[in-house]
Amino acid sequence: METMPFRDEHQKAIVMPSTEAVVSTDWRQGLPTLHGRRVVLRELRASDAASLFALLTTEEVSRFISPPPSTVEGFERFIAWTIRQRTAGTYACFAVTVAGFDTAIGIFQVREKEPGFGTAEWGFAMGSAFWGTGLFQDGAELVLDFAFDTLGVHRLEARAAVLNGRGNGALLKMGAVQECLLRKSFQKDGAYLDQALYSILATDRRGARLATATRTTRVH
Ligand SMILES: CC(C)(COP(=O)(O)OP(=O)(O)OC[C@H]1O[C@@H](n2cnc3c(N)ncnc32)[C@H](O)[C@@H]1OP(=O)(O)O)[C@@H](O)C(=O)NCCC(=O)NCCS
Repeated sequence: METMPFRDEHQKAIVMPSTEAVVSTDWRQGLPTLHGRRVVLRELRASDAASLFALLTTEEVSRFISPPPSTVEGFERFIAWTIRQRTAGTYACFAVTVAGFDTAIGIFQVREKEPGFGTAEWGFAMGSAFWGTGLFQDGAELVLDFAFDTLGVHRLEARAAVLNGRGNGALLKMGAVQECLLRKSFQKDGAYLDQALYSILATDRRGARLATATRTTRVH
């Protein structure tokens, strides 16, 4: 979310998304619903605004990311914006839900950095009550598969403030490689923070899958 392009004050036309489930083979017409072991990722809906506002605007969640919308209505505008960007084919934002419950407890975002999603950037945030539960990794696996297999991403970037221990740890455990330090690249509460730039390449992901498959075959 650090460098995601949504800015609430710039939103004018508000188009609320349909609350009906969208089933399509083309993600631009509606994001697929992705099922993990314990999470379900789905398209955001206007009705997610209240839970996302409650969970993502706390001090600990928002400490190292761009300021989230400051009202429920701001989250409604953000959600409408995500649908417009998805329809335009430049961005995808999934709601994180726990299997069996429909409440949105966080988001995963992927945006293109060049036309066609060759290079893209991802970001994520979840309510702090769900940190350290394994839900992040479960959802992140789904998003990585979506990015590389469905969007056709070649290089997936992420940025994390160096002071953001959990954010850096989360990226590293998903196989992201830290490439460099972006000095004083992120302004937060009037101060400029250093960020680390991470990437996962499509070839890294294929290698990781192969290693997992090999380990699984050996165990059985
Ligand atoms: C980023 C986020 C979604 C990750 O979810 P999470 O449930 O906290 O992630 P996990 O617990 O699965 O993984 C975090 C890892 O960082 C490690 N970690 C925690 N604090 C750390 C620290 N100070 N330094 C280094 N690693 C740390 C954890 O031990 C864990 O690794 P492990 O599972 O191997 O033990 C969540 O923390 C969040 O929403 N943070 C606020 C939003 C945010 O910062 N988003 C941008 C990230 S770049």
